[in-house]
Amino acid sequence: MADDVTASVQSQFGRAAADYATSSVHAQGESLARIVELTAPQKTWEALDVATGAGHTAAIFAPHVASMIASDITDEMLQEAAKLANARRISNILTAKAAADALPFPDQSFDLVCCRLAAHHFPDLHAFVREVRRVLKVGGRFALVDNVAPDAERLPGESATAIDAAIADYNGFEKLRDPSHGFAPPPQVWIDLLQSNGFKIAAHEQIEKELEFTPWVTRMRCTPEVISELETILRDGPAPLRTFLKPRRDDAGALHFTLQELLIVADRQS
Ligand SMILES: C[S@@+](CC[C@H](N)C(=O)[O-])C[C@H]1O[C@@H](n2cnc3c(N)ncnc32)[C@H](O)[C@@H]1O
Repeated sequence: MADDVTASVQSQFGRAAADYATSSVHAQGESLARIVELTAPQKTWEALDVATGAGHTAAIFAPHVASMIASDITDEMLQEAAKLANARRISNILTAKAAADALPFPDQSFDLVCCRLAAHHFPDLHAFVREVRRVLKVGGRFALVDNVAPDAERLPGESATAIDAAIADYNGFEKLRDPSHGFAPPPQVWIDLLQSNGFKIAAHEQIEKELEFTPWVTRMRCTPEVISELETILRDGPAPLRTFLKPRRDDAGALHFTLQELLIVADRQS
């Protein structure tokens, strides 16, 4: 992986690691319980969580599997993940430093690889999917959750050109808030990528995630200038992007908006 991308991720997440331990989006988001249901993990499975962050996904899967390796590229995040496992008295989680596109594990090591709310940081989604396939046993299961960009279903009536612009605008909005954001594609790109790499899709669905603006920018330590720019986009930005993000104020005046999470469960075919 390019050193500057790694450094950006490690600096961004190193500073914010403790905030991810308590972030409600990460610790309690609807996709957490739902991805376990869709995956139907087995007690005999050896599992790997890629880009574990503060370890919420590793911790929710761990009681359902034999063993879980919680991996990440940022040391401070691995420390948070270990703390969470200790606090919950989960004894089958080990942590390991690993880049998503160069997983330091032998071929066919795992029955389950999971990865939640992280792939949009990875520099090369193709390399990531190839690595997931390589470390999974044949028949092994991949459980992915990530934010996705707008598509025709979310922006009905928009032209293909307008949707392409909205995909770029959405990723620009995310990158402004978090410079380590790479690219979040629309859902079909993930499905095509998995199928073309020898996976069979077992389940996929989308969840609408409501976010409160202030904790979202605070978690990333955004400067006042960036916060103001992001607010301006939510108020006056391109119409398709605003249709997608649905900015609104609650009764107390707090700004909220919506993101889309894609959940996919896919099995390695051969
Ligand atoms: C939002 S956090 C992950 C959230 C966590 N999976 C959960 O469910 O709560 C994103 C994580 O991705 C990690 N990360 C970013 N790029 C990575 C890469 N290329 N390889 C491995 N980890 C990476 C960051 O260090 C950070 O801990």
